Amino acid sequence: MSNYQPKILGFLCNWCCYTAADSAGVGRYQYPPNLRVIRMMCSGRLDPSFPLEGLAQGADAIFVGGCHPGECHYQDGNYHALVTAALVHETLARLGVNSQRFLIEWASAAEGSNFVKIITQFTEHVASLGPLGTSEGIDPTVLRKKLALAATTAKDRKLRMNLIKASKEMIKKGDFSRPTIAGLVHEKCDKVLTELIGASLP
Ligand code: FES
Repeated sequence: MSNYQPKILGFLCNWCCYTAADSAGVGRYQYPPNLRVIRMMCSGRLDPSFPLEGLAQGADAIFVGGCHPGECHYQDGNYHALVTAALVHETLARLGVNSQRFLIEWASAAEGSNFVKIITQFTEHVASLGPLGTSEGIDPTVLRKKLALAATTAKDRKLRMNLIKASKEMIKKGDFSRPTIAGLVHEKCDKVLTELIGASLP
């Protein structure tokens, strides 16, 4: 297990985190080479099915990087990304997947060193968990099949409507703390998530 190198899939916002990764490269900072990057214009583009599909397709962990709160180039995309992230965390927990395999964090374009620190720590942590399924005690093939099904259920229209309701309520309350957002997502999506996951997973 000592030579184990986790595969981490990253979704990075073009304006901040992707540029931070770029400046880390230009500045010749050293960091683990485990991250494979998909560039998005904003972390708000994150769809809940993306991380689930990424894990189903072979990643051991997922990283989402956006602009700091209050600095999103599209106003509040990163707050909506937190709502999506809360749904992903809740889905992973229901599947028995360690939710620490999914991380959402912020780094501005000028924070190459911060980006390096986040990725280095996350890679080390994921390495300590072992390949997907190991720390969970679940057969990886079975787990990836469940994740693929969960990625499909994450596209359900009713679930999307409830996720939008959670987003709207978050904006109305003006409370963007992660525990509050997780509570809102649980409140709005718990029932439909139970129906969907119960119906699709053995
Ligand atoms: Fe970076 Fe929205 S533009 S998170």
